[in-house]
Amino acid sequence: MLTQRAAGAVRSPFDRALRADLVTEHCVLELAGGERITLAVARWHAAADAADELLVGRCTGPTLDIGCGPGRLTVALGARGIPALGVDVSPVAVRLTRRRGGAALRRDVFDRIPAAGRWQHVLLADGNIGIGGDPLALLHRVGQLLAAEGTALVEVAAPGTGLLRAPARFAGPERDASWFPWAMLDAEAIAAPAAEAGLSVVWHEARSGRWFVELAR
Ligand SMILES: C[S@@+](CC[C@H](N)C(=O)[O-])C[C@H]1O[C@@H](n2cnc3c(N)ncnc32)[C@H](O)[C@@H]1O
Repeated sequence: MLTQRAAGAVRSPFDRALRADLVTEHCVLELAGGERITLAVARWHAAADAADELLVGRCTGPTLDIGCGPGRLTVALGARGIPALGVDVSPVAVRLTRRRGGAALRRDVFDRIPAAGRWQHVLLADGNIGIGGDPLALLHRVGQLLAAEGTALVEVAAPGTGLLRAPARFAGPERDASWFPWAMLDAEAIAAPAAEAGLSVVWHEARSGRWFVELAR
């Protein structure tokens, strides 16, 4: 799992990437296989853009924003009158989301989550399908969190990525160098773990160089 527990504290290797004062830094996630992924940190701190609104616009009821980061999607949902809760292991993320007016809880998605089994939607945006490094385990967890008629809105990687599971770390001398499990997959590759978790792709769309799918039972 992605979290690190030390002296009773739960924190995330993303803490540093989430710090607003470092937004202008080039933030790169390095996978053990050598792939380098530039993270859209500036986007996380900005207001929701047109591609984000595509996701948010599909949410019609209470929505759980898993790995909410600084909370732009949680806040955008609230602005549309949709009850939303952000959950994130990073205290920095939770503080920033609350500062923007969003509701957020510092919690590992695999731990106890309020209203489990009653969420109308869950969001896994910005590559968060990689959380824990095991998309099948995460999709199983999503299935436990969703209401019977609920859906999961997932941002996937560019077509051709397939399924990539590898340890990752933040690149650069200033970064936390510890490795954590991570994964990436594209719209085609999500079908198999989704089916195993009892879900199937009911919608997909691309916007502004980003790719999204919606999963339902
Ligand atoms: C790629 S960033 C997401 C950015 C976010 N969606 C946004 O709009 O700013 C990944 C986020 O997932 C959080 N995270 C990682 N593992 C987690 C876990 N097991 N449970 C909850 N959040 C987690 C990290 O702390 C980080 O904020």
